Amino acid sequence: MENQNRVQQNFGKNASNYRYSSVHNNARDLDRMIKLLNPQPEDKVLDVATGTGHTAIKLAQYTQQVEAIDITREMLYEAKKQSYENGITNIEFRIEDVHNMKIPDNTFHIVVCRLAAHHFSNIKMALKEMCRVLKTGGKLYILDCSVVDGDESEKMFNEIELLRDSSHVFSYSPRLWTKLLRELPLEKGQLNFHKVSYELPQWFELMKTEQKDRDKIFGILDNLSRRVKEYYPYSENYITTYRVEILKKKI
Ligand SMILES: C[S@@+](CC[C@H](N)C(=O)[O-])C[C@H]1O[C@@H](n2cnc3c(N)ncnc32)[C@H](O)[C@@H]1O
Repeated sequence: MENQNRVQQNFGKNASNYRYSSVHNNARDLDRMIKLLNPQPEDKVLDVATGTGHTAIKLAQYTQQVEAIDITREMLYEAKKQSYENGITNIEFRIEDVHNMKIPDNTFHIVVCRLAAHHFSNIKMALKEMCRVLKTGGKLYILDCSVVDGDESEKMFNEIELLRDSSHVFSYSPRLWTKLLRELPLEKGQLNFHKVSYELPQWFELMKTEQKDRDKIFGILDNLSRRVKEYYPYSENYITTYRVEILKKKI
């Protein structure tokens, strides 16, 4: 099964959870994105994998024209409802797959993609598409879950993410992101790596992770090497994870 089908099934069932998720609608994170991007009113913006629209809605308060795409109808339904309730009228929401966007080259001043790249079945193709629709000099902003550099953390934390959500494909570590980005027409820009902690059981509830999979996740955490465990403290109330934040201009 293509991962797109799994994404549509999993997010379709849990769309309203994402609308009210404090992780996705975190005011501090969204303000930080605005500060880094410094959007101008005349900028044309694309929000890739908009989900329930938190990112698009934030950007629409600074720019006149926002387009927001996603492959899950139920997520877009929540996004439209949320933007209507916020009095936002300058976002065009559409069903589209990032791997094959029906958008002309060099269209946008800003392309953003928050907390979604780990679901893309072909990350290279998705990144190439995002760069293609970006104007020369335009800004690409990506925020996604990530893992500490190293074979063990890259393997084990992707197993954990897949147990939590079967539509997970891969969370790339900074060293893997650096390789991926090197192949694209982008300037050096910024790649930031942040430690975050997710409250439990809320993190599991978002995707309604089954109890047997929650137990397996704790089994993996308990058996990590001492070196990796140091980066990933956890208890029954929280789990540690990491995020990568990328800001680059197209050359
Ligand atoms: C966690 S949500 C995104 C959250 C959102 N960007 C935000 O800032 O709140 C992940 C989204 O990625 C979308 N998605 C996954 N694969 C996709 C693809 N190939 N093309 C477009 N959207 C995709 C899912 O449908 C889902 O709505």
